[in-house]
Parts: sequence; structure tokens; C-alpha cells
Amino acid sequence: MSGARASWIGRLEGAWARSDEVFATLSPAAFSLRPIALRHPLLFYLGHLPAFAYNQIVRGALDEPPLDAALDTLFERGIDPESASDAVSLASWPSVAEVIAYRDRVRELVRERVSSVLAKRDDVLCDKGRVLSLVIEHERMHHETLQYLFAQCPEGAVARASAPSPDVVGAGRAARAVDIAPGPVVLGARFDELDFGWDNEFGAETRSVERFWLDDLPQRNQDWLDYMGVYSMGAQASLAPASWVSRGGQWLVRTVSGPVAMDEAAGWPVQVSGAQARAFCAARGGRLATEAELHHAARARSDSDALADPALVDWARARPDPVGSAPESASAFGVEELIGNGWEWTSTEFAPRPGFEAWARTYPGYSSDFFDGQHDVVFGGAWPTDRVFLRRSFRNWYRRSYPYAFTSFRVAYDERATR
Ligand SMILES: [Fe+2]
Repeated sequence: MSGARASWIGRLEGAWARSDEVFATLSPAAFSLRPIALRHPLLFYLGHLPAFAYNQIVRGALDEPPLDAALDTLFERGIDPESASDAVSLASWPSVAEVIAYRDRVRELVRERVSSVLAKRDDVLCDKGRVLSLVIEHERMHHETLQYLFAQCPEGAVARASAPSPDVVGAGRAARAVDIAPGPVVLGARFDELDFGWDNEFGAETRSVERFWLDDLPQRNQDWLDYMGVYSMGAQASLAPASWVSRGGQWLVRTVSGPVAMDEAAGWPVQVSGAQARAFCAARGGRLATEAELHHAARARSDSDALADPALVDWARARPDPVGSAPESASAFGVEELIGNGWEWTSTEFAPRPGFEAWARTYPGYSSDFFDGQHDVVFGGAWPTDRVFLRRSFRNWYRRSYPYAFTSFRVAYDERATR
């Protein structure tokens, strides 16, 4: 086996092993659950990961026929409807055993085809193994998104025994606004700069950022509880984050390991939708920062485009930490935790960079399907985000109204804050 082939197979196997570990935490009955009505049942994801690999690598890059036309199509793409009533709902799905058999056939074929991919050097999809990276990163993204789906499952559906006890408990530290000096910031990358990047990362551009003020930490569950407290009881229920659950008149915070008491989670970044984050910022006399502003605020030094060190981010983490737990992540401006402990909502609509090109012919809609004015960029990374996504140009986004992802926020101000 050539070194390159062995190395790519090792990377594929690494992603597959983690997928197996993730699905092994589900009870057999849990595969039919649909914990979020805006997404498919959990079984879909068991089939989606191999179908995507087959469709991209074997059918797409190598032009081979379908493996199983019905399953290749059924599991081709997820959904992101605006409302639950628009969500596709199938009356019946294949059995778990059928899907696992399909998955194993795909894996065998993909292993066999790695050499053929690497030999097609004149194809942009195959050169540098790009389609293999695309499949591996796709699978690793789903590991994270499955975690927030699992967090919405009822008790007993997910084996939660492996949950580690928290490293740190506590209320965290309240944010303080710091002065961000103006300056230029480079966003995105050139295609030849990276061995692999998603289409939306390319088209490097320089933006100027005006002086503004930014909270040095994200808002916490406790801050959100205080915010809800100023509203009447009737309004409070509609303001509660989807990451909270009410038990006996008390708010608990959902985690992959089951709900925990607010005392334990009070210091964590609050997990809300972009619309909720915007409303909170407005109530504080501030706003969400733009993508360019957060990039600028996150730089390690004022004379370098490199970003400050990530912190509180890695697949092995099972929950956030109280904010303020990583002072070593401070940027040149003293802003902490911009990369880690929770993605952060920006006010920037997800849109193409200049010169955008959907370079992967097998996946033209990866980004362009979401350039619709309803999705906003989220910056940084969350506690279970794979470190492969911490490259400077990587972009993530969610529907502004979507409340389930590991998305938090911090407040920006145009005037010096008086708090
Ligand atoms: Fe996907």
C-alpha cells in the first residue's frame, strides 16, 4: 500500500470510528426518534454519512453507477426547513440493520477506490485528495451536530454513562466591554493557500473595521435568566432557550449527558438562536458584532492576522465550561474565548466572498443553498467542535431562527459601554 493511500485510509477510518462511537451511544429504539422536528429522525444520519461518502467519492468523483439507488438518494441530504410544518416526513425508513449493511458496503468500496481518486491529479476534486477531505470533514461536522440532536432526546434514549464529571463548576465571570481599535482584517483564503477548504472559504478579502466595543466574554445562562426576569411570566416562556428544560418549576440546562441543574450550568455560555441573541443585545443597548469585527477582535496580535489560541474546544469535551475559564485565550484586545466554548452569532448574513465559486462539482449547493438571507455566520467553535475546523478561513452558519445548535453570543457596542 502506498504511503499516501495508507494515510488517507487511516484518516477515513478515524472519522468512521468516531461515527461508530457516536451511534453506539443510542439505544436501538432511539434511531426512530426525531428529537428536532426541523431535522430528520436519527436513523437518517446513520445512512447519510455513508451515502454522502459514496455519492461524493465513488459516484461523483469517479463517475461510477449507484450502489443502491434508493438508499443513495434517500440519504443524500439533510433538511433545514423554516418551520416544522415544511419538514419532510417519511412514513417508513429502512431498518437499522439494512442501513448498517449499506454503510459497510460503502466503506469497503471507498477503501478500494482511494488509489483511483489519488491517481486523478488533473481533476480538482481528486487532486490533493480533496474529495476525501470533503467527506472526512463532513463526517466530523456531523459528529458535532449529532450531539445537539442527542441533547434534545428524552431520558433513556442516549447512553449517558460515559459523561465525565465537569472539570469546573461555577458562575463564571460577568463580561466587560473592551475597546477594539480600528484596523484592517483579512477574511477568507486563496484557493492555492490550503490543501482543502470548503467553497465559502475562498475569495480572500480585506475589510476595515471601525472602532467599537466588545464584551470580553459571552453571555451566560445566568445572564439570560436575569434577562428573562425583567419580563412578565407570560413572556418568559417564549424567551426560554431551547437548551433549557423546565422541571418542577426549575430550569435545567440540556447537555449530551442529560439535563443539569442551573446551579451547575449558570456560568456556561447560553445557547440560543440568532434572533434571540439579537433581541438580548438590543435590550442591553448593543448589537451583535459582524463576522469581520469578531475576526479582528480575535487576532493574537494587532500586527498579525493570526488568531488568538483556541480554548475549551475539542471533540473529547462533553459540555461547556464557565465563561472566563480560559484567560490564556485572550486576544490582542483582551477578548477571551472567541474560538471555543460555543459558536458565536454574528450579524453577518451568510453570503459568498468575492469571486465565490462552488468548486466541488459534486456538492454545488453546500453553501449556495443557504445564501438566502435567512442564515447568519457563526464564529469560533463549540466544545465538541473537531480541531480540524479551527483553521482561520473556516466558516459556519445556521438559520437565524434555529435555537438548537451550540451557538452563543456576546454583545458589541458602538459607543463606550456605561455598564
Ligand atoms: Fe450532511
